[in-house]
Amino acid sequence: MIDRRTLLASGAALAATPAFAKVAGKAPAPFPQGFLWGTATAGHQVEGNNVNSDFWLLEHITPTLFGEPSGQACDSFHRWRDDLALVKKIGLNSYRFSIEWSRIEPLQGVFSAEMLDHYKRIVHTCRDLGIAPIVTFSHWSVPIWFASLGGWTNPDASELFARYCDRAARHLAAEMAYAVTLNEPNGLSIADRMIPEGAKRGLEAMLVAARQATGAPKFVGGPSFQYAPAMQPSLLKGHRMAFDAIKAANSALPVGFSLAIVDEQADAQGAAQRDRARAEFYGPWLDTAGKDDFLGIQNYTRRVWGADGPLPAPAEATLDQMGGEIVPDTLANCVRYAHAQTGKPIIVTEHGFAVSDDRIRAAATLAALAHLRIAIADGVPVLGYQHWSLLDNFEWTSGYRVTYGLASVDRKTFRRTAKPSAKVYGAVARTNRL
Ligand code: FCB
Repeated sequence: MIDRRTLLASGAALAATPAFAKVAGKAPAPFPQGFLWGTATAGHQVEGNNVNSDFWLLEHITPTLFGEPSGQACDSFHRWRDDLALVKKIGLNSYRFSIEWSRIEPLQGVFSAEMLDHYKRIVHTCRDLGIAPIVTFSHWSVPIWFASLGGWTNPDASELFARYCDRAARHLAAEMAYAVTLNEPNGLSIADRMIPEGAKRGLEAMLVAARQATGAPKFVGGPSFQYAPAMQPSLLKGHRMAFDAIKAANSALPVGFSLAIVDEQADAQGAAQRDRARAEFYGPWLDTAGKDDFLGIQNYTRRVWGADGPLPAPAEATLDQMGGEIVPDTLANCVRYAHAQTGKPIIVTEHGFAVSDDRIRAAATLAALAHLRIAIADGVPVLGYQHWSLLDNFEWTSGYRVTYGLASVDRKTFRRTAKPSAKVYGAVARTNRL
């Protein structure tokens, strides 16, 4: 049962944000048995000192698009036991995290038994604690040597990725609960279309500096959105080859990838634009998902298309720190859409809120879960929900300014402190109902 303090906290959260309160309480209960309640992180964003990765290099180059370098991040490389203890304390039964390719294969073809053992201890400890490990093989960051070969634009990229997945899976897959090959492989294509030309020039200047510093004329890494069209064929093939490699290590392990998905909506004139966006951003990936065991969905906001393109958010909208609109039903809309297109079971592999006011995080999470529960009642098979994120962490080019965590992290001592929203979310997870 939800204790009185948590009930008061969630009530206060909803009262503070009446727009989100309407739906909470309307959803049927409980969630399906065995529902995966969890939270997600990514290696580069929490581990710290990921020195062999493309992002690390780009964070330290001049000019750089990064507001600040990742540095020690949340020191999760050393404090992962604290992270798992926190997951447990919140009341969750699953945890999505990534293994770092650049630690496991720091030089091309050279695999680190020490790092494989490191991740094996994490997967194993999850199992010991009753936490289902949902493991991402590549959450964006790649080894510097891979970026130096042109990254995902290299014609051999898929084979190189699959070889790493093969080695990692043979060591680690036995105790994994779910495997995610690639995180948001469609994310850069969306950015390529939506990000202003000025940002692309900044990115190219950073890559030119990286090429000069490494002497690798084809260096492509980090948020290289303008290379997305050249990367897509390798990413699609890389996912398929990784799927086969992981299945060869453990045929019983469910394997998929995670799709970045914005709730694409249209005004009276915008349907054609919306449909074009959907076909371009999601089409090829929804097609390949049909061959997978499940589809991971990552949603943060919506976009309303008019006849000439996306419309600005309405004046009364609640915006997150990235400027995205917070609307409670976007997650459920995306889950419904993705399932209708693929017929696959869905895991929400990411969803959360970049806000400094934690009451908004608590209230908006409850409201989004209410919509999700209604979608499940309507027949969409949703296996779990992984809230982004466990910790305030290194939010890529935005650095530490943007806060998605259920817990804050002291930047000097790395002490984790759960926020009230962790209690509110944990109460739902523990009771399996809203
Ligand atoms: C997703 C990324 C994740 C995090 C969230 C806010 O696109 O997968 O690493 O940055 O956005």
